[in-house]
Amino acid sequence: MAKVLILSGAGISAESGISTFRDSDGLWENHRVEDVCSEGCLDTNGEATKKFYDARRADIEDKKPNYAHKVIVELKHQYPHAITVMTQNVDNLFEKAGIKKDEIVHLHGFLTELRCRECDEIFEIGYKKQDDCFNTQCPSCGGELRPNIVFFGEAAPKYQIMTSELNECELVVIIGTSGTVLDVTYFAQLTDKSILNNLEPSDAIDDRYFTKVYYAKATEAIGEIAEYIEEFLKDI
Ligand code: APR
Repeated sequence: MAKVLILSGAGISAESGISTFRDSDGLWENHRVEDVCSEGCLDTNGEATKKFYDARRADIEDKKPNYAHKVIVELKHQYPHAITVMTQNVDNLFEKAGIKKDEIVHLHGFLTELRCRECDEIFEIGYKKQDDCFNTQCPSCGGELRPNIVFFGEAAPKYQIMTSELNECELVVIIGTSGTVLDVTYFAQLTDKSILNNLEPSDAIDDRYFTKVYYAKATEAIGEIAEYIEEFLKDI
């Protein structure tokens, strides 16, 4: 288990031009969440859901990682065993910054992948439309394919890994999340030290529980955050 857990959300990709969810009035790219990314929407609104994720995939193709992604990837490579990197984001900006698949946990899924609804096999499709790849059928079992995204109301199997890491780590670093889905105030209470970086305070986070708080853009705060982490790890 790692000593430091870095957990990010939509805010870390905001400066790369990917819009955050709650900063846009509960709409996501002009869609109501319940229509395109909630449990059951594949059955009740399948075509629109598929098109929505086709568009999200196309949208991230030209997006570039920013300084915050790059610093975190450098830290992970410098301290591979002492740092765990997790994100709620489904974009691939950490990967574009050089992190390998097994060096990051995507808690809510990954845009460039499809998953079979029957056998759970995962297929990488890059930025293509779902229908241009497999005509919706799983090449292994013939089952129906879906975006490999955890919709609201669905189970998130990777939360188990997150819980184990939280119970073992000594420093948790939260960057760019409103805390609406994950109770990051509780995470700060679980660990010895904690850092919070958001653009502004969130109603869902009690920042008094954090050792250090930065209300600033992630690209501006990340330098000091990295120094804190390095100082924290210097004796290992
Ligand atoms: N730097 C740092 N933080 C920022 C920046 C920035 N440049 N821009 C915005 N933020 C912060 C905002 O202050 C806000 O607290 O990022 C947060 C974004 O919050 P949300 O949009 O709610 O994103 P997130 O918490 O990641 O959402 C959680 O909900 O949409 C679902 O499953 C989806 O993983 C997502 C989950």
